[in-house]
Amino acid sequence: MSEPIRIGLLGHGTVGGAFETLVTQRADAVEATTGRRPEVVGVLTRSQGDFDSILADSDVIVEVMGGLDPAKEMLASALRSGKHVITANKQLLSRHGDELWAIARENGVQLRFEAAVAGVVPVIRVLTGSLAGSRIDRIHGIVNGTTNFILSEMARTGADYADVLAEAQELGYAEADPTEDVAGLDAAAKISILARLAFGTSVDPDSVPCEGIEGIQPDDIAYASELGLGLKLIATAERVGEGISVRVHPAFLYPGHPLASVGGAFNAVTIESEDITEITLSGPGAGGPQTASAVLGDLVAIASGAVAEVPPATNELPVVSDSESAFYLHLEVEDRPGVLSQVATVLGDHGVSVRSVVQRGNAGNARLVMVSHPVADSNFRAALSVLAGLESLRAQPRAIRVIEEDFGG
Ligand SMILES: NC(=O)c1ccc[n+]([C@@H]2O[C@H](COP(=O)([O-])OP(=O)(O)OC[C@H]3O[C@@H](n4cnc5c(N)ncnc54)[C@H](OP(=O)(O)O)[C@@H]3O)[C@@H](O)[C@H]2O)c1
Repeated sequence: MSEPIRIGLLGHGTVGGAFETLVTQRADAVEATTGRRPEVVGVLTRSQGDFDSILADSDVIVEVMGGLDPAKEMLASALRSGKHVITANKQLLSRHGDELWAIARENGVQLRFEAAVAGVVPVIRVLTGSLAGSRIDRIHGIVNGTTNFILSEMARTGADYADVLAEAQELGYAEADPTEDVAGLDAAAKISILARLAFGTSVDPDSVPCEGIEGIQPDDIAYASELGLGLKLIATAERVGEGISVRVHPAFLYPGHPLASVGGAFNAVTIESEDITEITLSGPGAGGPQTASAVLGDLVAIASGAVAEVPPATNELPVVSDSESAFYLHLEVEDRPGVLSQVATVLGDHGVSVRSVVQRGNAGNARLVMVSHPVADSNFRAALSVLAGLESLRAQPRAIRVIEEDFGG
């Protein structure tokens, strides 16, 4: 008889329930692969189980409760008692990952977390394993399925944000309170974990500039599609000069970008490095069985004796607030001679050069939809505030970043 690998399961909701089912179904296969048979020896919920006795009986703690408290203290205590830990908790790791990874290192145990970013998409494994020796230049991710579903539906049907959000809530893709997802906060937590792994720099998720998708209008999506652009909520971590920029915002992509074709509730992450050009990983970013599968992968790695460690953050690069992007700009202006040149002058004065323009008449007004070449955010924002004050303007200008990279895919 092989020695079992005893699992203490903290949380028995969407992911925890699915994990218990999966680990039971796959027990023979895990035993055949690792020589150890997985067994759930205790389950903790708000109404069931006792943490101390579960900890005493377990070899591995699987934390799928969510939240910071009591998850943080429980995981720290498990690691200190020499138990390996697997967690799907992005909020906890984005805020307290360094402290917990340090406790894991000090105690010679593992803290694995594949499911915490992009569900079953194995981005953690690629960053910490396959690409551990590469110099990463940039990561762009669609790391929130709810917003990707909403934007995909808005593009497909032309419906407005509020209607598609209501549909997403009915289908179970969005929470009753969708703020974490639609305002970009969930994506900010995930990209700060990826930035930590890619650049060895800790990034406080609360400091990540976040723009959500609440203000996106269906006509922005329609006009931009005439220019060949599709809209996604993109989380970015990239080197800028000697520092890094980490941010979340909606962005238009050209069709050759690997993330352009990722629709519905799927997640995808593109990792760029000079050595490799780019790698894109995609798949389901959420869902009980899918997330449970990522947790099971971590369990198999531990049971096999594979070792994984997040090294200390020794590379504290400054996090810069200004970055460079191309921009889509939507202006509703009075339809009379001279207005276009006025707009062009303001843009030119701020170093914004225009790559393409579409103009439409609209009952005495004109719509100007343009895409700029890359420009510093600060310059573009300054141009925008001057444009907003023009007398010929009929509505607030609307601006959305454009990711120019095109890998020809
Ligand atoms: N759902 C997904 O698709 C998904 C995807 C990727 C990552 N994740 C992450 O996985 C984790 C779990 O998500 P979920 O969707 O499975 O959550 P969930 O359905 O709300 O389940 C949470 C479970 O944890 C238990 N729990 C919560 N607080 C507790 C406490 N203070 N003490 C004891 N038990 C507690 C709950 O117990 P009660 O039943 O007694 O309330 C419930 O069993 C989160 O960190 C989430 O971010 C989820």
